[in-house]
Amino acid sequence: MPHMENIFEKVSSLAKRRGFIYPGSEIYGGLAGTWDYGPLGVELKRNLKEEFWKFAVKTRDNVVGIDAAIVMSPKVWEASGHLASFSDPLVECKKCHHRFRLDQLSDSSKCPDCGGELTEPKQFNLMVETYLGVVEGEKLKTYLRGEITQGVHVNFKNVLSSTRVKLPFGIAQVGKAFRNEITPGGFTFRSREFEQMEIQFYVKPEEEESMKWFEYWKEERRKWYLSLGMRGENLKFTDHEQLAHYARAACDIEYNAGGEFKEMEGIHHRGDWDLKQHEAYSKEDMTYFDEETKERFHPWTIETSGGVDRAALFFLMDAYREEETGDGESRTVLKLHPKLAPYKAAVFPLLANKPQLVELAKKIHDDLKGGYMIAWDERGNIGKRYRAQDEAGTPFCITVDFDSLEKNDVTVRDRDSMIQERIPIAELKSYLDAKLG
Ligand code: GAP
Repeated sequence: MPHMENIFEKVSSLAKRRGFIYPGSEIYGGLAGTWDYGPLGVELKRNLKEEFWKFAVKTRDNVVGIDAAIVMSPKVWEASGHLASFSDPLVECKKCHHRFRLDQLSDSSKCPDCGGELTEPKQFNLMVETYLGVVEGEKLKTYLRGEITQGVHVNFKNVLSSTRVKLPFGIAQVGKAFRNEITPGGFTFRSREFEQMEIQFYVKPEEEESMKWFEYWKEERRKWYLSLGMRGENLKFTDHEQLAHYARAACDIEYNAGGEFKEMEGIHHRGDWDLKQHEAYSKEDMTYFDEETKERFHPWTIETSGGVDRAALFFLMDAYREEETGDGESRTVLKLHPKLAPYKAAVFPLLANKPQLVELAKKIHDDLKGGYMIAWDERGNIGKRYRAQDEAGTPFCITVDFDSLEKNDVTVRDRDSMIQERIPIAELKSYLDAKLG
């Protein structure tokens, strides 16, 4: 596909133009690595998180959810190893003073911007500092969480004592994380504030000798991306050779972003690292007591850790098409899965200056809008309105015309096939229910 070469630019331009994603703090010149989601983007992201929650929590008996605080005791980050090891190698050009991540340079012998000499690499910690408290000198220095994971592990005992979970079981969470990335970029791909969606799945160590749960979650996550319409050929699973400080094994789920596979999610075998570290630092017992065997031990954790923003970006890329429409025209269309599409349908009166059409269209819009996100448009000609909804990824356009007044039916146009059919107004809701699942 020719357009895939600059898919990042195409998607970021559409995202800005149509209200999916704007640069953060734009009127003040922007703030590197931060992004704001607009009216369409917020719906896409909410749909994505809702689908994750259905996958992780609602449809499983052995996974529960939590929502932990973003700011945690600084001891958490000492225990988790983030203060000591959560860093990237930073080099600076001695001439132009631009800074780079050494591991991202194709030629690490000189500055990619001006050819100048680079400093020796030093480890740059990614944790974002913050201060709590009101008395100067007594403020507590802590951190915005660098991963959402630790909020789960520190609540391991709380969940055990307040619910009936038994191994193997998982705790899911969705929420913001913050990293002082050296080189934010690739649109939202590498941001300094972003959202993660995770499951920490606790298992008996002897059950995991065969890596059965690790393999299970890899496959489950593949199926999830495919079930939401991501094209299988654009997914790749790559095992890590170099492991993070906490991991025994790790696999990246990568997406083919314009010819280059990029990390979208990590499946990590964290062993008993987190629970044992928190036990050592908090002096609280973090073991699990098995009622059947009467044994006490630290479970192992298999983690699925996905980026909500990266998934949103890659679903947009995957859905993006530029097509000839057969009538000498072309269109840009987002073929988003209906479950992810911001608006499920748009309602139009054929002509904005015919009150009877507007009135009936408004009634249809109002009847549908409680159940689904429904767009409204009465500007310009119908062709232009179709194009606008195609770019927003709206699966169905419903047009009220003069026949509608007589026959009580409407034209429903399908985004992908562009086929139009007449549907009785009384059946619209069940029609959409069937199509949108
Ligand atoms: N709890 C493990 C963990 O956080 P990670 O591989 O560092 O693992 C998991 O991050 C996911 O979070 C990544 O696969 C990616 O989707 C997302 N992510 C990480 N850093 C990000 C960043 N700077 N901007 C956007 N998403 C990011």
